[in-house]
Amino acid sequence: MAESWQADSWRNKPIVQVPDYPDAQALKDVETRLESFPPLVFAGEARNLKKRLARVAKGEAFLLQGGDCAESFSEHHADNIRDFFRVMLQMAVVLTYAGSVPVVKVGRIAGQFAKPRSAPMEDLDGVSLPSYRGDIINGIDFTEEDRVPDPERQIKAYRQSAATLNLLRAFAQGGYANLEHVHQWMLSFVEKSPAGEQFAELANRISETVDFMRACGISPENTRQLNTTNFFTSHEALLLGYEQALTRLDSTSGDHYATSGHFIWIGDRTRQVDHAHVEYARGIKNPLGLKCGPSISNDDLLRLIDILNPEDEAGRPTLICRFGSDDVQEHLPRLIRTVEKEGRTVVWSCDPMHGNPIKASTGYKTRPFDRVLSEVTNFFDVCQAENVHPGGVHVEMTGQNVTECIGGAQSVKEADLSHRYHTHCDPRLNADQALELAFLIAERMKKDRDGQPVKAAQSA
Ligand code: PEP
Ligand code: CO
Repeated sequence: MAESWQADSWRNKPIVQVPDYPDAQALKDVETRLESFPPLVFAGEARNLKKRLARVAKGEAFLLQGGDCAESFSEHHADNIRDFFRVMLQMAVVLTYAGSVPVVKVGRIAGQFAKPRSAPMEDLDGVSLPSYRGDIINGIDFTEEDRVPDPERQIKAYRQSAATLNLLRAFAQGGYANLEHVHQWMLSFVEKSPAGEQFAELANRISETVDFMRACGISPENTRQLNTTNFFTSHEALLLGYEQALTRLDSTSGDHYATSGHFIWIGDRTRQVDHAHVEYARGIKNPLGLKCGPSISNDDLLRLIDILNPEDEAGRPTLICRFGSDDVQEHLPRLIRTVEKEGRTVVWSCDPMHGNPIKASTGYKTRPFDRVLSEVTNFFDVCQAENVHPGGVHVEMTGQNVTECIGGAQSVKEADLSHRYHTHCDPRLNADQALELAFLIAERMKKDRDGQPVKAAQSA
């Protein structure tokens, strides 16, 4: 029998990556206030996403998950949200049209604020200060004032998440995603790149198809699917006091849900089987992600799946694999065989970002785009060889023209990194690199599918 679970039972377990708040009472006061705030998402939406992910698990759809490594208070602008949304739409259209597969869109957004760190302290010029842990916890400037964890930041993060989610819902449901506007999703700096040109061609074909359908009587005015889209939010459930405060009992099902976002994941540093983060996640019914890095053992993976998804519910677990391009062959086959042998239902997703960091000679942390592409290719190769569905990708990306990852068709060089290196944490793909990645995946899916019996694709 599993031990009983409560929204706060994680507090009795060992925990890592906890900020050192100087004022415990102030923290408690903030958590009490958050408990009285409205939920950001509704349990029915999380169930809806789980159903869609169940289709991914069955091989009938593809998961596209992406966004900032860390959202920040200073970059909270409507234009940033809109441009990010545009790139996600473009990528989804590429995958749906060129890859002929329905796409489940999940942003790392509207809650992706808390960051795990490799060291609790950061040293600079003989000064030692607490590491930056994300805007929901402390500030990024290397000053004592900024680096002391401040619970009030949780209230600000909650309000920013609400405003971001509000705009995303408006874009998704209010006509921005109308397929007749497919040309308008293009970002100006992408227009002249090879991926931009390829997209323009594809958009022409979509427009012709939409015109043809209009002539047949099917139009965005009478067919919701052409005018709206579904979009879900996700983040790493790292700051458990915040997550607990936003946990709600759903009256429809009698189950608990995290209402801080539709999908939450457990990071690679906090997935210890008997620790607090796993304890919290097992009791809420949202779809869950589990980051799987090279250090995960086959036994631990099975134990985690048993704890997090004891009833083998399809759509509940997504295994987000992040090994590094050279290590996919070593680790992914053993994990797939372990899961398949036990007959467990999971979504296999590839995070080609977190296993591929390098330090540029200029001192910047970057990721070579060719390694990102090669991790995705290796992921598809292994999934094909092991006969499982390559279910999705999980990327750090932005709609802005940043220079954070080197390479890509517009060839960001090490010397360019300083030009527009805006991330608050890890380097992200810019919109052009993200689109190029989508085309690569679409072509690969098409190739794999052409060698296999065709499954009818329906809208997700
Ligand atoms: C992240 O997704 O930003 C992250 C920290 O990933 P991981 O837990 O896989 O290192
Ligand atoms: Co990251």
